[in-house]
Amino acid sequence: MKPEKLQPLPGMNDLQFPEILHWQHVEEVARNVFGRFGLREVRTPLLERAELFERSIGDTTDVVQKEMYVFEDRGGRRVALRPEGTAGVLRNLAGRGPEGRAERVYYMGPMFRSERPQAGRRRQFHQIGVEILGPAEPLVDAECIVLQVLLLEAFGLKKIGLRLNTRGSEKDLPRLRRSLRDLLEPRQARLCEDCRRRLQSNVLRILDCKQETCQAVVRELPPLDEFMSQESRDYFNRLERALDEIGISYEREPRLIRGLDYYLHTIWEIFHPALGAQDAISGGGRYRVDLGGESIEGIGFALGMERVIEALQAEGAGALSAATDGPQVWLVSIGRDAALANLALATDLRRKGLHCGGEFQSRSAKAQMRAAGRSGAELVIVRGSAEIERGTVVLKDMKTGNEDAVPLTEIVETVLGRVNREAGHDTAGTSR
Ligand code: HAM
Repeated sequence: MKPEKLQPLPGMNDLQFPEILHWQHVEEVARNVFGRFGLREVRTPLLERAELFERSIGDTTDVVQKEMYVFEDRGGRRVALRPEGTAGVLRNLAGRGPEGRAERVYYMGPMFRSERPQAGRRRQFHQIGVEILGPAEPLVDAECIVLQVLLLEAFGLKKIGLRLNTRGSEKDLPRLRRSLRDLLEPRQARLCEDCRRRLQSNVLRILDCKQETCQAVVRELPPLDEFMSQESRDYFNRLERALDEIGISYEREPRLIRGLDYYLHTIWEIFHPALGAQDAISGGGRYRVDLGGESIEGIGFALGMERVIEALQAEGAGALSAATDGPQVWLVSIGRDAALANLALATDLRRKGLHCGGEFQSRSAKAQMRAAGRSGAELVIVRGSAEIERGTVVLKDMKTGNEDAVPLTEIVETVLGRVNREAGHDTAGTSR
């Protein structure tokens, strides 16, 4: 195989040690925070019917039109790799009947969008998301936003900002669309080709266009809530009051629309100043989606794990310590018989909960001792033919350099005692 064939596809990454420590940290913290909010995990398939995304995200959005991986499976079904998590989770919850309509769930995993790979944009990326189902209520929106802020704080992020807006209710949409069309039509010469088409197909999408020329036009528009009912404005005011009361700061972004069509009322993005053009580490909003003839209401958000980890690194989180992951004991074997005996000993120690490393390929003693040093293990067990004959092993303390001959019958207890003394705990299983 050519070397380039050993690389993943463009826009997709292998995740491995030591960066994987950040991923594990973020996942662990997230599970802990979700527990405090009474959320349960749900895992849905990566592959779904393409129609599910087209109907919920909206078939005139960029995500559906330009970025979705769609293909026919062997059964002739049109399927898609999930570009986001909400649609699949709502399908799952809708299928659970009335109980599903009041669920609060979280999910973690890969999503796929066939975008041009660049900093902050991957074709396979990973989200941690939340969906809280139930009817529209500003206090639930506030709770969901607070959940997200607490989560990002728990990761260790300090410099995050929150941009908040409303898209109004379903009843506001015809007037909002009409007013935007009236305002944008006279300016269409300054819009990109896609946006000129969007004037007819989905005018709201123009607000989310990435082209600078279109953004300049969008900045001339009045705040979107000028085209909304008093009811929708009151809804948003109640949310703002709740956030003020709780002490969550935010910026009002009066033309924020977000890239997915299912949103109504509250929408927001959380950004990090260190991330450049793709500065949204997270986004969410309230939605209503029609699935299987019924409409499902809720609110949720998803954060991009790659971007969160990049932001953590930008704030100086650095590489997390690998110390908690490394071996406590390293086994050095001189000769095949010693390797077999050490493999049996490592099995005993691992069964007791110890982290053991070592090689069983009979490399030279010197090479194995070097590997033992690099591993960071506190204790090294050395065994060769002389030790096998005597029924002992050599136990080396890597900190002091002291070496003792320990009878095989005592080695497990001795190692457990020494490791526990170091860690200051009673049993090996709880020592880290
Ligand atoms: P989204 O804004 O499309 O929302 O994506 C959420 C987050 O995923 C973004 O803020 C970003 O951090 C990350 N992300 C998106 N695309 C990429 C990419 N190509 N490469 C790297 N990271 C990316 C949603 O997906 C909604 N489902 C959120 C939601 C849940 N709304 C309600 N419930």
